[in-house]
Amino acid sequence: MQVLRKAFKQPLNEKVTEFVACTIADAHLVKSDLKGSLAHAAMLKEEGLISPSQGANIEKGLSTLLAKAEDGTFELKVEYEDVHMNVEKQLEELIGSDALRLHTARSRNDQVALDLRLYTVDAIDTVIVGLKTLQGALVQSAKKHVDAVMPGYTHLQRAQPVLYAHAILAFHEMFNRDIARLQDAQKRTAVSPLGAGAQAGSALNINPQTVAKKLGFSQVFVNSIDAVSDRDFAAEFLMACSLTSIHLSQMAETLVIWSSQEFGFVELGDNVTTTSSLMPHKKNPDPLEITRAKSGAVIGDLVNLLITLKALPLGYNRDLQETKPPVINSATIINDALEVMKCVVDSITINAEKTLQAASDPALMTTDLVEYLVLKGVPFRQAHEKISELVQNSRDKGLSLLDIELSEYQNYSDKFEQDVFALFDPTLSVTSKKSHGSTGKALVTQAVQALS
Ligand code: ARG
Repeated sequence: MQVLRKAFKQPLNEKVTEFVACTIADAHLVKSDLKGSLAHAAMLKEEGLISPSQGANIEKGLSTLLAKAEDGTFELKVEYEDVHMNVEKQLEELIGSDALRLHTARSRNDQVALDLRLYTVDAIDTVIVGLKTLQGALVQSAKKHVDAVMPGYTHLQRAQPVLYAHAILAFHEMFNRDIARLQDAQKRTAVSPLGAGAQAGSALNINPQTVAKKLGFSQVFVNSIDAVSDRDFAAEFLMACSLTSIHLSQMAETLVIWSSQEFGFVELGDNVTTTSSLMPHKKNPDPLEITRAKSGAVIGDLVNLLITLKALPLGYNRDLQETKPPVINSATIINDALEVMKCVVDSITINAEKTLQAASDPALMTTDLVEYLVLKGVPFRQAHEKISELVQNSRDKGLSLLDIELSEYQNYSDKFEQDVFALFDPTLSVTSKKSHGSTGKALVTQAVQALS
């Protein structure tokens, strides 16, 4: 940095200047930095550390810079290293020597921690809005296709019939937990570090509590050394983002499979699919694939941050500068992915005939057969064994379970009666489920209604 170098005999090497600067990341922190400075200046004025007219002048200058930041015309110069020095320089150009008082009882160490906290608190709000919007799209899709029956899978093998609405609302639950995790992380993020100074606090009569209050933060730091070194909040945010990105990736993968010609369960809209430069018939689910791939970048950001923090000695270290890009990168990816996934979900149409046909495979009703016997008093394990033998027999004969005679069923258990054949209806199978949180038609309809 070519400022604050009176103690040095040489200017900072040009390559080093560029290498240690963080203006690219800090372009995302300008508004946070200015809001932090406005709160700090107001506190300095209230505490009599600057005069009312100096305070007013500083506040006016900062507001002008904030307007520039809002319309995208605030420019950062690499030679000033970061947003803090860029703001200070531009403020001085705007209002003159009063600007030199703004940094009273403050260090860039507590300032940068505050900026990243302010950015993360806002990012959490935005991600939560994105998650809720996507959840709304899932509920609409569930509502639109509330009768569609499809196979549910375990090990990606057909397992039992389920309602499409039940399957799609599973993602709704994952996003509910993501929201709760983000809200929880936000409480530990909204803690103001301003007033910690470089790491030891200040001999001046400052009031960190009022600064926190002005910023809408519910808490203020306890220990000044911890305040400048703590980036746990960033790690928590990236952990929450990683889980969200994993959920989005799992959802993307599920939709890639369901929309493949082999499955043909859903069709994605033309507005969210691309084609091939060679094969004109191709309709490719690129937004889903990119969402799946970008989860790698988000998880990478978490690992990047954790490794940056791992061996830091107590106090502020310049390594902490490198905690900003992963937070900004992941927040951007997650918000974009949430918006894109909402468009994809909005575009889904279900091929209900195809899903019903796939769910009509009689083999999917073996659990219903077991429970049929259990209801008639057969111990579960014995009932399971009998149906296993029956399955083997049908496989050996190349017959479906529906094609086996009642007399044959009765060879396995005398509890079987003619009504057993009614079980091979997948719609009846989902209607019959009544246990808590199951795919039972009545329960799912109720859940969809409650969420709409
Ligand atoms: N540019 C640094 C960062 O973003 C803040 C400056 C702290 N530098 C210092 N020499 N104390 O983390």
